[in-house]
Amino acid sequence: MNETTLCALDDIPDGGSAGFVTALGERRAAVFAVRQGDAVFVYENSCPHIGSPLDSMARGFLNDDETHIECDTHGALFQIEDGVCIAGPCAGDVLSAVTSEVRNGKVFVIAT
Ligand code: FES
Repeated sequence: MNETTLCALDDIPDGGSAGFVTALGERRAAVFAVRQGDAVFVYENSCPHIGSPLDSMARGFLNDDETHIECDTHGALFQIEDGVCIAGPCAGDVLSAVTSEVRNGKVFVIAT
């Protein structure tokens, strides 16, 4: 197990999201985190449709209502809690989840 500090919890706005490049085990990975209160959901920043970054047009990672993760490229929508795509060209596919933990006001990512 290889743990890396991603950020402070307060670096992610509550109800919002933020993108990072981080060490994940032996590699560097582009990831993003969505915060809901004290819970944080981290995924690799790669759409299961064609592998584009979800924020390719710099509109962030969430839809306007901040109810779902949204891919900028073709508008796929994903559930925040489990990364399952519920609408768009990759419906049924799943974002690549990154194991994470919130401890003492910090967010850690864990290479498994
Ligand atoms: S690349 Fe994300 S929906 Fe097409």
